[in-house]
Amino acid sequence: MNKEIILTGDRPTGKLHLGHFIGSLKSRVELQDKYNQYIMIADVQALTDNFENPQKVRDNVLELTLDYLSVGIDPSKTTIFVQSLIPAIAELTVFYLNLVTVARLERNPTVKSELKLRKFSGGIPAGFLTYPVSQAADITAFGAHYVPAGEDQAPMIEQACEIVRKFNLVYGETLVEPKIILSKTPRLVGTDGKNKMSKSLGNTIFLSDSADEIEKKVMSMYTDPNHLNINDPGNTKNNPVFIYLDAFGKDKEKIAAMKAHYEKGGLGDVKVKRYLNEVLQEMLAPIREKREELSQNKEYIYKILSDGTEKAEKITSQTLAKVKKAMKIEYKEINNIK
Ligand code: TRP
Repeated sequence: MNKEIILTGDRPTGKLHLGHFIGSLKSRVELQDKYNQYIMIADVQALTDNFENPQKVRDNVLELTLDYLSVGIDPSKTTIFVQSLIPAIAELTVFYLNLVTVARLERNPTVKSELKLRKFSGGIPAGFLTYPVSQAADITAFGAHYVPAGEDQAPMIEQACEIVRKFNLVYGETLVEPKIILSKTPRLVGTDGKNKMSKSLGNTIFLSDSADEIEKKVMSMYTDPNHLNINDPGNTKNNPVFIYLDAFGKDKEKIAAMKAHYEKGGLGDVKVKRYLNEVLQEMLAPIREKREELSQNKEYIYKILSDGTEKAEKITSQTLAKVKKAMKIEYKEINNIK
């Protein structure tokens, strides 16, 4: 009955794509049977670098929920909730801010690389610089034992652990130190073969793409640039079409045979792409259909989010009470509201 707790989350800034599917969604579907899983829609964190685009963030709360449910995240096993509806997270963030230095935040490698990409023109927003503290609050509010995430999130978990240790040292043993469950799959390359799949680079295949969009994207994918004639030997290693076949294809024998043929020469790109298109169409059709169906029933989606948020509220307010007690700011005698 007492399953360990895991917490993960996504910023609601866009629909989810094949990179998310292979990197996190599939494992979440497995993890929900073994753990008590919470998935957070990190709207507050999304606003740290999208504060001028509130509508985008709001719209994507619904899109993310649809993506989760359509791939098989089951709301009877996984609690899905919205970050901004959990006040305890904001309160914990304020307390934890005392336990980190500005210099330490500036050294966080994830923050550093994101700052390079974002190029905030009017200076670094304090909310952005300190979002790792807020993420530590997300994790510890639930007493999460594990955080399943990609390599890019490792510095976030490390910083959360430092905050936990500092808190427990100063105020007494209160918070749980989380561990990362590193994603087994490396970052999926985009259809352009140059970069990781990312919506800002326009090299994505979304879970919600139509059959036509998928076909168009697959047929215009980058392959081996040196494979000019069908009979030339081709490279399958850095070739996104084969990388996708390895990631999503079920018929491993057929794929191995195609690879050997391509490497030897004599197998054309169009044939390989047609097969990849088949594989992806078969995999994505049921997801898209379920997504379509769910999107017709918004009441159901909102009910899932409100039930999830209610559950998250309960567990996080318990943590907050413990934290306040440890910090000697519970004031029971002054305040009869809990
Ligand atoms: N930073 C994560 C991302 O950009 C999203 C996130 C917010 C998160 N809070 C979290 C992930 C807590 C894991 C745990 O993808």
